[in-house]
Amino acid sequence: MDDIRNAVLGVFAVTVLAIVASPALAADPTPAATPPMGWNSWNHFAAKIDDATVRAQADAMVASGMRDAGYRYINIDDTWEGRRDAGGVIHPNAKFPDIKALADYVHSKGLKLGIYSSPGPKTCAGYEGSQGHEVQDAQTYAAWGIDYLKYDLCSLSGPMIAAGSLEAAQAIELAAYEKMGAALRATGRPMAYSLCQYGFYQVWRWGGSVGGNSWRTTGDIEDKYPRMVAIGFGQAGLSPYAKPGNWNDPDMLEVGNGGMSGAEYRTHMSLWALLAAPLLAGNDLGHMTPETLSILTNPGVIAIDQDPAGIQGDRVKAEGPLEVWAKPLAGGARAVGLFNLSDLTANMEVAFADLGVTGPVSARDVWAAKDLGRLSGYKTMVPAHGVVLLRLSN
Ligand code: GLA
Repeated sequence: MDDIRNAVLGVFAVTVLAIVASPALAADPTPAATPPMGWNSWNHFAAKIDDATVRAQADAMVASGMRDAGYRYINIDDTWEGRRDAGGVIHPNAKFPDIKALADYVHSKGLKLGIYSSPGPKTCAGYEGSQGHEVQDAQTYAAWGIDYLKYDLCSLSGPMIAAGSLEAAQAIELAAYEKMGAALRATGRPMAYSLCQYGFYQVWRWGGSVGGNSWRTTGDIEDKYPRMVAIGFGQAGLSPYAKPGNWNDPDMLEVGNGGMSGAEYRTHMSLWALLAAPLLAGNDLGHMTPETLSILTNPGVIAIDQDPAGIQGDRVKAEGPLEVWAKPLAGGARAVGLFNLSDLTANMEVAFADLGVTGPVSARDVWAAKDLGRLSGYKTMVPAHGVVLLRLSN
């Protein structure tokens, strides 16, 4: 009898050890304490995404050093969804034979897996949404080992328009997002909850109250400089609404997708870091130029985005196409971006007193990885469409 008991206890102990040691079960108890970092399939692959491609992206995230730079989530966007069975349980389509096995694989790499759905009957690409199946879907995601849900308004906008008034429409939307937020919490599995409703109804004012860890503040980004600029610099004024666990999301990164120059991608990355935005790479991680990788993994830039104080930066001043943005960092440090949105090289100058910094302070050029000495201000040439990003510390 004792032998049997010892054997059972032994198996139990080994199982507990395996559970504790297994990355598969290492769900983050506080998702999004800093802005989520990872990769999402949509910007590069759109509907051409499948199990093998997701595995290859996870492999590349590790091999490229992106995981070690802080990237964690591998997020499947739209077009994975199949049919519901007679019991209403959602199944993936033929592109994704076994999502639980895929999650196990991604977890075995020390990464996390994200998925996508809609509060409406259909997703934006016309696949099955979660309406009427919120609790069931949240449970399915938890059983698969999902760590992140992007929940995209899409077809819920139909009933919202039909509701007739702005208030009624907003009530429909809030209830739908709250319903999935509660369903995710009820599973007991920590999953980051990403609201995607393009910034309607000033989502930054209520996204956190429905359980959102982040909320899109705009329509879709494109791999084009004017669109990136319109979205990124349009974030001015939203800094009061971000805090650890609740982030404004100006959409995913386009770095490396080929539509912008190196200077423009450095502007994109610098601005997203100053905005404490989620950093979700949207390129093909298996085919990156050294420049793309260096932009995505610059440790100084990532440290600004991921700063533990969790304070979003904002615009300090704009003179025509020359803009200065700053982000308070832990310990009284500051990140400062000097952005030149014009088509010509420009001279830019910033007095640190304008940032509330009483100088002189230690200044570092983040992209150049160069200490500039103790300064009370800085004057520099900024390339067309480019940025000079500084870190100031006492
Ligand atoms: C919307 C979202 C995008 C992407 C697509 C997928 O447009 O904003 O980020 O998820 O749907 O269909």
